[in-house]
Amino acid sequence: VSHMVNGFDPSRLTELPGSDRVLVQRRSSAMGAAYRLFYDRPVHVVRASGVHLYDSEGNEYLDAYNNVPVVGHSNERVREAVHAQLGLVNTHTRYLTDPVIEYAERLTALFPDPLTQAIFVCTGSEAVDLALRIARSVTGRSGVIVTRHAYHGTTSAAASISPSLGPNNPIPPNVALVDAPDAVRDAFGSAAMAFGERIDRSIAELKERGFEPAALVLDSVMSSDGLQVGDPALVQVAADRARACGALYVADEVQGGFGRTGRWWAFGQSVTPDLVVLGKPMGNGLPIAAVVGRPDSFDAFGRSVRYFNTFGGNPVCVAAASAVLDEIQERSLVRHAQDAGSELRSSLSSAIGGDPAVAQVRQAGLFLAVELIGPGGAPDSDRALRVVNAMRRRRILISASGTYDNVLKVRPPLVFPRDAMPQLIEGLVESFDETQ
Ligand SMILES: Cc1ncc(COP(=O)(O)O)c(C=O)c1O
Repeated sequence: VSHMVNGFDPSRLTELPGSDRVLVQRRSSAMGAAYRLFYDRPVHVVRASGVHLYDSEGNEYLDAYNNVPVVGHSNERVREAVHAQLGLVNTHTRYLTDPVIEYAERLTALFPDPLTQAIFVCTGSEAVDLALRIARSVTGRSGVIVTRHAYHGTTSAAASISPSLGPNNPIPPNVALVDAPDAVRDAFGSAAMAFGERIDRSIAELKERGFEPAALVLDSVMSSDGLQVGDPALVQVAADRARACGALYVADEVQGGFGRTGRWWAFGQSVTPDLVVLGKPMGNGLPIAAVVGRPDSFDAFGRSVRYFNTFGGNPVCVAAASAVLDEIQERSLVRHAQDAGSELRSSLSSAIGGDPAVAQVRQAGLFLAVELIGPGGAPDSDRALRVVNAMRRRRILISASGTYDNVLKVRPPLVFPRDAMPQLIEGLVESFDETQ
């Protein structure tokens, strides 16, 4: 069975209380084997508000994991905007409507020149898929470079550049995998240069197989590679190397975008991508995603083939997305992510950073990673999983990721308040003690 870190193991079904067991059984018989649940004991969510989820018994869970409800679960402004638009009109982009144009102008104004245009889709995967089509059309090439443990989505094209889906997900010969930077194992001070050299080798590898690179697709926070955010030079070097051989640099901001890292975009100030892929937090849970790019590439692509996405950029999802921007801007959530994130990092580091199991704490805004190792220094995925489940028993939701599944992933909604931090930190301290 295809493995997912922190996935519920169906062979442990009998350990669940009766009502959960029945629901899990009904779910797998009606929805099949492709789905995964989180945790040893899945959480049965019936409602949510702000940074809290509630189960069927009314228990409250602190959400320190979900990055889609970025302005809070059940956000009132989003709800009202969606409700109002649903009562007005909900069509598609073949009619002239105001909201999508206004939103496109507002969104692209948040990007550096020359990223002035946006195409709307429904999911991050569709956005990745479209970015690949544009890159291939513009360059006339087919090769793609991604990191060895990357995740970019579910369509055929997006899955073909998502090696973290495991050995049964085929990676075609026109896709080259490079080892992501590894802040724990790379030689100190040379990570960026070494990453650049690996990009060069992957270009040579593609050429040997008969392909020229169309794109380097890089998750700006390298989330599934374990949150490799140490040094902005990493992305800069990689983008420079890819561009030097005529490939486009595609920034996947599905996880890093919309203020997560304490900046609007995680790709940094020193390098402007050729294409940017957006998703997850964009509509706070409504399906809206986008590719942002330069007019020359969009024109070249758009002249050769039309693009119509039935639900992409519909007025209701756009209403949600506009409300998200209003909330982020009026509540200064980008600034909050920066300030609250560094506070959280320092209290987390003083609480558990001295534990010999903690190899490193990495942080960018409200995205924190705690990398765990065993006594010999080997990655300790077992401990990571036990901590995640110990937290869940305390009704605090986090998860794990990384090349070795040994990195705790703390990535709360951006509205995560300072007064929720002590509960998170105390939970971590107790969970570390309990899993010694
Ligand atoms: C970095 C990254 N890119 C793309 C995707 C795909 O987005 P979606 O699930 O909306 O299709 C994801 C989803 O987890 C992601 O994390």
